[in-house]
Amino acid sequence: MNIRLSTGKLIPVEMHKIRIVQRTTLPTVRRRLEAIGEAGYNTFLLRTRDVFLDMLTDSGTNAMSDNQLAAMMVSDDAYAGSESFYKLADAVKDVLGFNYTIPVHQGRAAEHLLAKVFVKPGDVVLMNYHFTTTKAHMELAGATVLEIFTNEALNTESTSPFRGNLDLAKLTDAIETYGPEKIPFVRMEATTNLIGGQPFSLENLRAVKKITAQFKIPLVFDGSLISENAYFIKQREKKYADESISQIIREMMSVVDLFYLSGRKSTSVRGGLMATNEKKYYDQILAWLPVYEGFATYGGMSTKEVEAMAVGLREMTDVNVAGASPDLIQYFVERLLENEVPVVTPPGGLACHIDAKRFLPHLPQSEYPAGALAAAIYLASGVRSMERGTISMDRDAQGNEVYADLELARLAVPRRVYTMSHIQYVVDRLTWLRQHSELIGGLRFIEEPKVLRFFFGRLEPLANWGSKLAKAFEADFGTDL
Ligand SMILES: Cc1ncc(COP(=O)(O)O)c(C=O)c1O
Repeated sequence: MNIRLSTGKLIPVEMHKIRIVQRTTLPTVRRRLEAIGEAGYNTFLLRTRDVFLDMLTDSGTNAMSDNQLAAMMVSDDAYAGSESFYKLADAVKDVLGFNYTIPVHQGRAAEHLLAKVFVKPGDVVLMNYHFTTTKAHMELAGATVLEIFTNEALNTESTSPFRGNLDLAKLTDAIETYGPEKIPFVRMEATTNLIGGQPFSLENLRAVKKITAQFKIPLVFDGSLISENAYFIKQREKKYADESISQIIREMMSVVDLFYLSGRKSTSVRGGLMATNEKKYYDQILAWLPVYEGFATYGGMSTKEVEAMAVGLREMTDVNVAGASPDLIQYFVERLLENEVPVVTPPGGLACHIDAKRFLPHLPQSEYPAGALAAAIYLASGVRSMERGTISMDRDAQGNEVYADLELARLAVPRRVYTMSHIQYVVDRLTWLRQHSELIGGLRFIEEPKVLRFFFGRLEPLANWGSKLAKAFEADFGTDL
C-alpha cells in the first residue's frame, strides 16, 4: 500500500510480515563474467546459485501466503473426485462467477487446449497483444495471430493509463476483412506481458464485447495478471475508484465467454485453469483434458497446488495483495526516471521494463539490444532480468529475423519477494550501467533453436564486450562486488 510520509513522499509499504526467508548470495563480477559466458549470454541458462536477485519472471516465483501453505497440507490426493478440486471450483464460482472449471498444469496448457478445440488452419486469432506461448500454440494449429493494439501501445514513454487497450476500429476492420467465420475468438490479455505489463480498461473490454457479440465471436480472457489489471482499473479508471477488486473482477468477467489463466502469477501457485459458463465449451475442452493434462479434478496439477490456487484466487481480491507488485514497480520506475534510465512508462503490472533501444541507441536490432542489456545488467549487478525483444521472436518460415516491436529488458517484481532496499540496489547498478552504456556491444547466436529460441539459445558477445564491462565495474567497485 502506498503510504504518505510526513515529508509528503509516498512509499510502498508491505502489508505483510516476512516469516520465512531464503538465503541469497552476490557473486563477484569475475564470477558473473564466467557465469554469463557459461550461460551463452542467455539469462535463462544461468544457475540460481550465480544470481543475487532473480527478476527473470514473476511466473511461479511469487511468495505464497501462510494460508496457501496451510491449505496444501490438507489436500485430498485422489485421482478422481478430489475434494481439493471442489474447493477450487467454489472459489472460481465466487470470485469469477463461472460454473465450469477445468484445471490445467499451467497457462500454456490452456492455450494448447484452446488451439486444439477452437483453431483451424487458415484462421486468424485477434488479440490486444500476443504472448510467446499463445502465439506458438495458435501458429502450430495453422492460424495467424493478429494484434490490434492502439497507437499508444508501443510508445515506451507514454502517459496513457491503458496501453493494453484493443483498438476498436481496427477490430471491426479485421472482422470485416477476414470474416467472422475465420476468427475463432478474440483474446484480451490482462495485463499485456510483452509490452510492459500494461492494463486495459473496463470500458475498452465492454466495447470489445459489444463488437464480438454482434458477430458471435467468443471473447477469451487471459487472466494471468487479472488482479493487477483490476488494481489498475481501480487506480486509473475514475468510474471504478470506489469499487473493490472483487467487484471489478466480477464486472470484467460478466462479458467473458471463456477464461483462462496461468496460476503462476495472480494466484501465486504453479498451475493454471480454464473456466466458462458455456456448457458446450466445457464439454469440448473436457474431451481433450485426459489426453493432455489429466482427469477433470486435477488436470495435471498436484492437488496441493489445486488447494493453494483456491486460496490464492480469493486472496488476490484483497487490494493489498493485488497492489503489492504494482506499487513497488511504480517506486522502481520513478527512481529510474529520476536517474535518467530509459524505462517504460506508465509503470505496469509485472515488472519494470528498461527500453533497450533508448539505453543502447548504438546497437541495431540485428545485434539484439534487449538480450545484450539483460546480460549487461547481470554483469553489473548479479540481478537476472529477461530479454523481451527480437530474441523472443522466432525467425519466419524463410529464416529471416522478425524484429520485435519493442526491445525490452524486463526486471520482474514477483509479489512479496523483494524489498525496497533490493530495488534501491538495482536502481543504483542500472544508473551505473547507463553511464557506461557505450561499453555494451551486440550479441550473435552460436546455437539457435527454431521454436521459442529465447529459452535455450546460446549467444556470444561481439568484440568481447563482457570482459571490458567487467573491468570497468572492477575499476569503480573493486574486486569484492
Ligand atoms: C499473459 C500470459 N499468458 C500465458 C502465459 C503462459 O503461462 P505459463 O507460463 O503458466 O505456461 C504467461 C506466462 O508468463 C503469460 O504471462
